[in-house]
Amino acid sequence: MKYPKEYLDEIKTRLKVSSVVSKTVSLKKRGKEFIGLSPFKNEKTPSFTVNDEKEFYHCFATSEHGNIFDFVMKTQNLKFGEAVKHLAQLAGMQPYMFSKKDEEREKKWIEYKSIYNEYVNFYHNELLKNETFSVARDYLKNRSLGKDEVKKFKIGYIEKNPNFLDKFKKNYSEETLVETGLFYFDDKKKIYVERFRGRLIFPINNISGYPIALGGRIIESLDYLAKYINSPETIFFKKGSNLYNLDLARKLSNKLDHIYLVEGYMDVVGLAKNGIENVVANLGTSLTDRQILILNQFFDDIIICFDGDESGYKAALRAAENSIKELKPEKQISFLFLPDKEDPDSFVNKNGKANFVDFTKQSKLSIHQFIFSHYKKQTENNPSSMAIFEKKLRAIANTIKDDFIRKYVLEYFLEKISDLTPYSNQQKKKYYVKRTKSLETTKKYFNESKSLTAVELKEFSLLYLLINNLHLFQSNIHLIENIKLFTEENKKIFEVLLKKFKSENYITIEDLNLDSFLLDKINKFAPIKHILKNQSDNDEKTIELLEDISRDLVNFDLEFRIQELESKFSVDMSETTFNELKELKKKQNLN
Ligand code: UTP
Ligand code: MN
Repeated sequence: MKYPKEYLDEIKTRLKVSSVVSKTVSLKKRGKEFIGLSPFKNEKTPSFTVNDEKEFYHCFATSEHGNIFDFVMKTQNLKFGEAVKHLAQLAGMQPYMFSKKDEEREKKWIEYKSIYNEYVNFYHNELLKNETFSVARDYLKNRSLGKDEVKKFKIGYIEKNPNFLDKFKKNYSEETLVETGLFYFDDKKKIYVERFRGRLIFPINNISGYPIALGGRIIESLDYLAKYINSPETIFFKKGSNLYNLDLARKLSNKLDHIYLVEGYMDVVGLAKNGIENVVANLGTSLTDRQILILNQFFDDIIICFDGDESGYKAALRAAENSIKELKPEKQISFLFLPDKEDPDSFVNKNGKANFVDFTKQSKLSIHQFIFSHYKKQTENNPSSMAIFEKKLRAIANTIKDDFIRKYVLEYFLEKISDLTPYSNQQKKKYYVKRTKSLETTKKYFNESKSLTAVELKEFSLLYLLINNLHLFQSNIHLIENIKLFTEENKKIFEVLLKKFKSENYITIEDLNLDSFLLDKINKFAPIKHILKNQSDNDEKTIELLEDISRDLVNFDLEFRIQELESKFSVDMSETTFNELKELKKKQNLN
């Protein structure tokens, strides 16, 4: 029997080739591709490449190539059906059952898909072209949305007395139409009505880009109508498993490692209009584990940015407590709190992309910082309150599924608590956490970092400091102008930075156009990041750190020159070389 194409496609869209391959082959990013040692041949120099955009791997040594199914079939010696089962599970999908029921479901899906497709296209074109829909167009204009956004998100408008049902009735049964959620039966009037009549509609697509549900907004405020309504759950639309705009946003995961998660449709549209397209919304329900897992399949860093009001804060706290369970090594969840009364849409429209990105960098809190600071605010300085505080944090940390993350989050919490209790600190009372074996990821991290030299690490710290304090150093360029770097790659980045600092008014990290591979490496290995985390917005401290680093770099320089001269001296034994050497050693002692 044949698997339906839909099913196989969904597995492929959910799993990047690189994430499947990297389970068995260690990969390094090179531009748009990844490279690694071929699993098909014993080799020392990498000839195996993976391209996520094109969805295939290729081995130059053996000419083996193919998609994720080929890869697991060949490397794990599986039959096609077994490979599908294995990958479906990895993608968090149900195994495919070949039964009569599934054939029916397949038929239903084909109908469902074409109903939505027709419906969405029709009202989208009406909004663009129908003269009598100028109310809707004026509404959009007032919110400064143009044709580009309407087209990109296929926004539509449904008139107040629509009659699409009659058109559909010719081809589909009433039961099928009601099952889509687009129509319902009005028991009083005994007629079928269009659920979204009189609303702007935002199609919600599945991961492959097919519309499967709608969100609808009224355009005139009437108290007795909800501002937004969403499709009810249907056979093909489950709220907790879908995210608005995931189909478009996921395509950016080759270029970007973070995704914004917002509350509303208009937040997604507003951010996209301002050039921030790595955004999804969670459809007016609370965030589920499934949604976190799906986002993590594509992005390492999830930034949750809800509205700057009480309900946004509460939703964020719920999301934090719920999603911390799913935290994985090399994945991050952080929170961005907007100023009072702002939502992402209003904030970005007021302040623009660069400021939104800057604001993110400066204000986002990692999930454990947020949880800690939330509960600390609720705690008073008395034993009972402190005890409740510690118990709560321990309980939250214990929900984390990953052994390694659980250990470190618990350590983070307990260390922060012991900062609050200086007396027990004095007694050197230490909390010990059950040791867990170091996992593959830590080993990998350790091996990678071992191959970096001390100089490289120091340079990473310098670059990390500069990149994270662009404006401070742009206005204090004299502090960095004369610093000398040694490694070619880092030198280049440093030169780019200096040039940008000198030439432009207000630069952002995007303007730097840095190679993402290098940027990742800096972010991952710069030793200073552990220090900076705690005092990110203290300029004086930052400058002190810069001075430390640049002194160390000067010392490296001296050290290199001394070594050079020493070997020279051992050959020429000349007086001048000796004197030079003496001078340098004196300087070294002074530093
Ligand atoms: P908001 O009330 O914050 O709307 O609801 P918004 O995103 O700012 O939209 P505009 O700017 O007023 O148009 C956020 C999300 O909560 C859900 C919707 O998914 C909405 O996008 N919601 C809101 C509902 O489901 N029903 C409602 O009545 C209101
Ligand atoms: Mn809004």
